[in-house]
Amino acid sequence: MSILDEIDIDNTPSHIAIIMDGNGRWAKKQGHNRLFGHNFGVESVREVLQAAQKTNVKYLTLYAFSTENWNRPKEEVDGLMDLLVRTIGNEVAELHKSNVKISTIGDIEGLPDSCGKELSEAYEKTKNNTGVNLVLALNYSSRWELTNAAKNLALKVESGDIKVSNIDETSIISELNTSNIPDPELLIRTSGEYRVSNFLLWQIAYSEFHFTDVLWPDFKANDLYEAILDYQSRERRFGMVSEQIDKNS
Ligand code: FPP
Repeated sequence: MSILDEIDIDNTPSHIAIIMDGNGRWAKKQGHNRLFGHNFGVESVREVLQAAQKTNVKYLTLYAFSTENWNRPKEEVDGLMDLLVRTIGNEVAELHKSNVKISTIGDIEGLPDSCGKELSEAYEKTKNNTGVNLVLALNYSSRWELTNAAKNLALKVESGDIKVSNIDETSIISELNTSNIPDPELLIRTSGEYRVSNFLLWQIAYSEFHFTDVLWPDFKANDLYEAILDYQSRERRFGMVSEQIDKNS
């Protein structure tokens, strides 16, 4: 029996978010530069997406470039941008064939024009697809997203469109980049780091966390399945007590 067979397909998270970490350390271990690790990281993206397609996962959000990543050495930032543009360009036809819908969260206008152009083509080509939603977090940070949400709500109050007393959780959610995406039930971080790093801070309020020592370029289908099994072993209480959950199920 393979590990995939152990998964309860009716109880897979519909949204998995991943902080892909450890490319640099993986490359160093092999005696190569950091970009070598990022290049191999793309292989893991491909494999994990295929694995997600074999379960009931509907949304896969990948933290591919954070706002803070601009502070890395120029050579690495340029290399990462180049890799993103090339990967999106190379993969979009195949992704479209497998019914994947591509979208992004983050400040896409702040990315190089070449990246914006590849992304626009990818959205357009895959917009009617009904399979897995691949959400790339690019030039994303949660504090940036929440700051924008606050500004947009303030503007709506200023223009008289809404009243302060009417602002509630739904109004905030509607201003987030993820307004059309359910919150992730499961957040995975690779490489033995136990941080959230400014990723989906609002959206992970009730997410289960799965941390693994595996470095991202080594993270493959079975690692995703293990994370799903770990998720399925948890009891999600949403602030209630066990007995209430048992009654509801
Ligand atoms: C973190 O590892 C990884 C990144 C900042 C980049 C992740 C990008 C990819 C895997 C390419 C993905 C491409 C697409 C199209 C989704 P790190 O460099 O922080 O590793 P370290 O902690 O070992 O230094």
